[in-house]
Amino acid sequence: MMPSPLLITGAAGFVGANLTRALLARNLDVHAIVRPSTDGWRLKGLAPSPTLHAVDLRDGASVKAVVRQVKPAAIVHLAKYRGNPHTLDYGGAYATNLDATRHVLEAARDCPPVRVVHAGSSLEYDLSRSPLKEDQESTPLTVHGVTKRAATALCQHYAARHGLPVVVLRLFTVYGPWEDGARFVPRAIMSALDGSPIAVTRSGLVHDWIHVSDVVGAILTALSTDGLEGHVLNVATGRQSTNDDVVAAIARATGRQIRHTADAFPSRPWDAEAWVADVSKTRTLMGWTAAVELQAGLAQTSEWFKQHASLYQASLAGETPT
Ligand SMILES: NC(=O)c1ccc[n+]([C@@H]2O[C@H](COP(=O)([O-])OP(=O)(O)OC[C@H]3O[C@@H](n4cnc5c(N)ncnc54)[C@H](OP(=O)(O)O)[C@@H]3O)[C@@H](O)[C@H]2O)c1
Repeated sequence: MMPSPLLITGAAGFVGANLTRALLARNLDVHAIVRPSTDGWRLKGLAPSPTLHAVDLRDGASVKAVVRQVKPAAIVHLAKYRGNPHTLDYGGAYATNLDATRHVLEAARDCPPVRVVHAGSSLEYDLSRSPLKEDQESTPLTVHGVTKRAATALCQHYAARHGLPVVVLRLFTVYGPWEDGARFVPRAIMSALDGSPIAVTRSGLVHDWIHVSDVVGAILTALSTDGLEGHVLNVATGRQSTNDDVVAAIARATGRQIRHTADAFPSRPWDAEAWVADVSKTRTLMGWTAAVELQAGLAQTSEWFKQHASLYQASLAGETPT
């Protein structure tokens, strides 16, 4: 059974806004922690709407106060540091990815019984040994990856030492409605729709792309599955595709050519020719597998962006290749 009330951090973000909608559609009592400075564009006009709590997760006392007030049956912790992916801002990433996670775990421990689902990231791996398995040792190559890896270790510690029912869902590369307009898939789709050129990475770089509806499905499954305490579970398709495959699939879906310049970026630590999850543990423990094929997912996403293009006009100025 789905726990309720539910408290979501990062609810104004890409995955959070999709999850919030899915929970509200199930008539659940949804509470959303949003950063006081958020513009909240993804949550505007929702009816029914979640109960919003404007809290900076770096402030542990405020997090504890909200959890005491809401008394959630479960917390889904999705907030993450929103710095540039090239950042070497260890302090900023540590404060949001690790310290904020500690605040969430402490607040949950203060108010039992609270189930916690924490979003990890495939950047916690060192990407050199695909297919990536949850139990392999890893030395993350990015600031984001190392702080997310530390947060995962903290979640496992709280499960082992304090008996907190916390599970880490390690997400791979998510795409779909409400994604940030500066990311690769939205830019490629907007390029198909308006004819503007797009710069892409060198050929052959891959990701295990997963549609956000599958990620939401995995979170819902984790919320209602017993026996996951302390586990880390990959949330991915188990198939990798190149950036070129994605551009070709969007061109097919939209019936438009995409003018793209390949090899337009200097190499980055997360450039990989093998980046795919082993999903067997997730299938065994949660009975969950991703359902959306890449071509179908990109067709649905392209159609969504066509319907919502006006939301993205302002956000297309920057560029963040995946
Ligand atoms: N998207 C992916 O491809 C992907 C891949 C792997 C893992 N993940 C994981 O999945 C989770 C969700 O990712 P996402 O793509 O939805 O991220 P996102 O769109 O960047 O959303 C992150 C949210 O966290 C909020 N936040 C940041 N700092 C905060 C603070 N100090 N206090 C309160 N809220 C704060 C942001 O607030 P504002 O609204 O003010 O910016 C934003 O709403 C993250 O944990 C991420 O690491 C995502």
